[in-house]
Amino acid sequence: MIRVGIVGATGYTAVELLKILLRHPEVTVTAITSRDPESPHLSEVHPILRDQLNLNFSLLDIPKFCQQVDVAFCCLPHAASAAIVGQLVDAGVKVIDFSADYRLNDVETFQQWYGVEHPDSQRVGNVAYGIPELFRSAIRSSDVVANPGCFPSSALIPLAPLLKADLIQTAPIIVDSKTGISGAGRKTNLKFHYPECNESISAYGIGTHRHMPEIDQIIKRFCNVDIQTVFTPHLTPMDRGILSTIYVQSKGKASASDIMDCWADFYEDEKFIRVSPDLVATKNVSGTNFCDITARHCRGTIVIVSALDNLIKGASGAAVQNFNVMHGLDDTVGML
Ligand SMILES: NC(=O)c1ccc[n+]([C@@H]2O[C@H](COP(=O)([O-])OP(=O)(O)OC[C@H]3O[C@@H](n4cnc5c(N)ncnc54)[C@H](OP(=O)(O)O)[C@@H]3O)[C@@H](O)[C@H]2O)c1
Repeated sequence: MIRVGIVGATGYTAVELLKILLRHPEVTVTAITSRDPESPHLSEVHPILRDQLNLNFSLLDIPKFCQQVDVAFCCLPHAASAAIVGQLVDAGVKVIDFSADYRLNDVETFQQWYGVEHPDSQRVGNVAYGIPELFRSAIRSSDVVANPGCFPSSALIPLAPLLKADLIQTAPIIVDSKTGISGAGRKTNLKFHYPECNESISAYGIGTHRHMPEIDQIIKRFCNVDIQTVFTPHLTPMDRGILSTIYVQSKGKASASDIMDCWADFYEDEKFIRVSPDLVATKNVSGTNFCDITARHCRGTIVIVSALDNLIKGASGAAVQNFNVMHGLDDTVGML
């Protein structure tokens, strides 16, 4: 059994991660951490896991934690994560990092968009980006993987094969995304409280959202062109789910069905990417690691729609998929 610990295990991504790991046949969960000095039992913080695992939260003591685990899933906010990931990796622990700390190629871009000094800057740019369907061989040989952002996954999964195959133009690319409120995490601020966002949809972060440079940088690896996506997220009154509507121009005469054929070839062996003839919806992927994608043609524009669960394919499902790839297991172990 592979011993697994979760750093920052009181949050939303962590509870979904625990649900998957507790049914994973190759894993035993040996440590869960929180800054709470009271060390509550797992079932007090996550009642849905009552009687599933007899473990208390502990404060992170890095030397002790490294004795307890072979692999760490770090479910911390950005910057807090990189402050410890380097120490874990240097101690021989494999890490799957949920934060944005290692997703970007360079420290300058990180500091520009996140507004903080990077606590582990020498590792930036040398970490595999954790979409297995796009970067499997790099993930397989990595000790640390940057789990992708939830919005970037919903954009990159449909866009990467099309840019690689030169089927679409590199500008304009407009990504219009809707997210459920769990995307903001469990400990959150006023604008995510129920009366603030129920029965309301609002755009936010126009031109400033931190997932925009992530999409741009990763997409460039498939076309070698500096792309500036126009990305606008919207907060919607759902618990979970992301629906992204992406507007692109085809190159030559590529039709919506050429786009669907390209995806069908590219993702032929991928269990978690479903090319759908029907329009996709968050309900059909909720609680699963699937990303559903489809395309239509509208007055000269190709309209792509993708749907995934921000907490699963956008976070914890992708993390376990990365874990499986890193350990030579089938992607689906523990998840189907
Ligand atoms: N939510 C999503 O849909 C989603 C999707 C993709 C990626 N992510 C990323 O995944 C990470 C976790 O997100 P989440 O939604 O699970 O957040 P969350 O529900 O707010 O949980 C965050 C966890 O981090 C701990 N924590 C918070 N601030 C900390 C600090 N300064 N130092 C150490 N520990 C701290 C909290 O634990 P204690 O307070 O108990 O110590 C908690 O366990 C974030 O980097 C987020 O950007 C989230």
